[in-house]
Parts: sequence; C-alpha cells; structure tokens
Amino acid sequence: MGEKWVWMKTAQTPTNIAVIKYWGKRDESLILPINDSISVTLDPAHLCTTTTVAVSPAFQQDRMWLNGKEISLSGGRYQNCLREIRRRATEVEDKEKGIKIEKKDWEKLRLHIASYNNFPTAAGLASSAAGFACLVFALAKLMNVKEDESQLSAIARQGSGSACRSLFGGFVKWIMGKEEDGSDSLAVQLVDEKHWDDLFIVIAVVSSRQKETSSTSGMRESVETSLLLQHRAKEVVPKRTLQMEETIKNRDFASFAQLTCADSNQFHAVCLDTCPPIFYMNDTSHRLISYVEKWNRSEGSPQVAYTFDAGPNAVLIARNRKAAAQLLQRLLFYFPPKSDIDLDSYVIGDKSILEDAG
Ligand code: DP6
Repeated sequence: MGEKWVWMKTAQTPTNIAVIKYWGKRDESLILPINDSISVTLDPAHLCTTTTVAVSPAFQQDRMWLNGKEISLSGGRYQNCLREIRRRATEVEDKEKGIKIEKKDWEKLRLHIASYNNFPTAAGLASSAAGFACLVFALAKLMNVKEDESQLSAIARQGSGSACRSLFGGFVKWIMGKEEDGSDSLAVQLVDEKHWDDLFIVIAVVSSRQKETSSTSGMRESVETSLLLQHRAKEVVPKRTLQMEETIKNRDFASFAQLTCADSNQFHAVCLDTCPPIFYMNDTSHRLISYVEKWNRSEGSPQVAYTFDAGPNAVLIARNRKAAAQLLQRLLFYFPPKSDIDLDSYVIGDKSILEDAG
C-alpha cells in the first residue's frame, strides 16, 4: 500500500417515522427495545442524510464532520458502529487506481466521514435515524461488507434505535428480538415503497426549538417509573403490531389512521405517566390533534392520521394527494404562517401540491 490514495464511497438514507412507537430499552448499551415497532420511510428527496466515507493511509485518526462542523467520535454509539463494521470488512481491490486493501488492513486504516442533512437542522426533526443508518450503510459499501440490510440494521441500531428502520424503504418492522447479544433485534421490510404509494406525508413544524428531554433520557425515565409503559409493551403493542401489519398489507386507511393515532396518543400518555412527567407536545400540537379528529369525523371516514415523536411537530399522513392538498389548505387557514407554526416548513419539497386542493 502506498501513501497517496484515498478510497471513498457515498450513501444517501432517508429518515423514518414510527407509526407504532419504540419507547424503552431493555439493554442500554446494545440498544435493545422492550417492544417491536413499525415505521414508514420517507421519500429520500425530502428528508435524508448523505454521507461520504473515505479511507487513506495518510489519515492519522478517525474524524467526522456533520453539516460541515467537526464532531467527536468518542461516544460509545459511534465506536460500536465503527467496531462492528470493521469486524465485518473484507478485501477491496481497484486495479485501475492501484488500490488493494486486505481484510487485516482495515483495523489500522483511519476514516474520514462527512455527513449532511438535506433538511434544515432548525426544523427540529429527528436526524439520528437517517444519520446512523447512512453511516453504517456507507461504511459497509466502503469496506465491502457482504451482509444484507437486516444484518446491517442490527449495527445501525447500536447507533440509535430508530436508525435500524431506515435501512429499508416502504413500511419496516423492527423486531425486538429475544437474544441477549441483540443478534436477532433487527429490521425487516414489511412492504416496499410501491405497495402503498398514494399516502402523502406532511410535516407541520410547530416549533424548531431543541427538545428539553432527549428520546434517550426520556425513555430511560419512562422505563424506570411508568407502569403504563409496562402495560403498553406487554399487552398493547404485541396485538397492535399484528393489526398494523394486516392493515398495511390491505392498505386499509381507516384502520391505519385509527392505530397510528392511538399509538401516538398512548406514547404521549406514557410520557405523562413518567415521573417527573415529560411534555413533548404543546398547545399547538393539541389543537392540531383536535382539528384532525374533528375533520376525520365530519368526513365519515379518516382522511388524515397524525403522529408525534419526542417533540411538538406533527407528522400528518394523508390518505392521498387530494386529502393532503385539502389538509394543507386548512392548515394555512386555521394555523396561519408566522403565528405559531412555521408554514414554510409544511411542505419540504414539492409545494405544487397546494394547487390540488380542489
Ligand atoms: C419517539 O431512536 O432517537 O422517535 O435509541 O436512544 O437513540 P435512541 O432513541 P431514538 O428514539 C426514537 C423514539 C421515537 C419513536 C420511534 O422512532 O420509534
């Protein structure tokens, strides 16, 4: 190996939104959850991370830049992902460039990593899911790792739990697994992105402020203090997951909306049941819920499902483009821009949808 080469790969990974939430770990360092979860992966054009990973004999240490700013890789989560990927690295050869990296070289070679989010960080949208999934996927390409997406998801999981679900498009299930070493706690694709492609996702940015309680510490406190969480993990989620899988298979929007909203509401009820209570939603989030509930009832059948993660921003899933256009029009009227919601952020990407309201 000479000193004057750089070998690199780039990957792009979208974020995902849970419709059956992951909340609570049974193992903090391996990131093993207390229940299965199900998510939908967003269109990569709108909310995704792009990561370039490079290796060169000239690099002195592992380094990473996030949106152009250097960040520390010393945390256990990064170290776990790097270690697990290096362990699975295989030989790489590019005859044209005269590069040959043998399996044993990967332990010594240092990495440079540059990662960008294509959505405003200020929007307050979770980025760790796309970030760790993309990091693991890019490194696997660089190091010629031969494992499939599910095996890679078990590595991304050790960066951030929700990241394991971003290795696939469409609807994805994170199976909690039973093994102590976490080897069976991984993501599988339920259906691909073409299966239910008339769904339309609108993200209403209610507040771009950084949340006060991170998901990691919030769920730790819930595991320690919430009896409702124990009930949810043992009694509610196992049944609800099966129902959700059926609903997705049949593209049954009415039942999808009912299960999605119920699961989001129960997750936030668990947060309230935590001691001290955690308030992720605010008054605007509550008004949005009431508004969507009222609209769905007046239509006779649900047009929109809502779900909220560990923050006040609403993820609204419309049954089709027409419902999404009507939703946007109504949001513009009832939650005018520059008041309590930043409407520029309603539609990230294709704003022409507003013309479809009818
Ligand atoms: C509410 O995956 O961010 O978004 O595993 O500690 O990194 P860590 O937590 P994280 O938690 C996500 C919680 C959630 C629900 C979900 O995405 O399933």
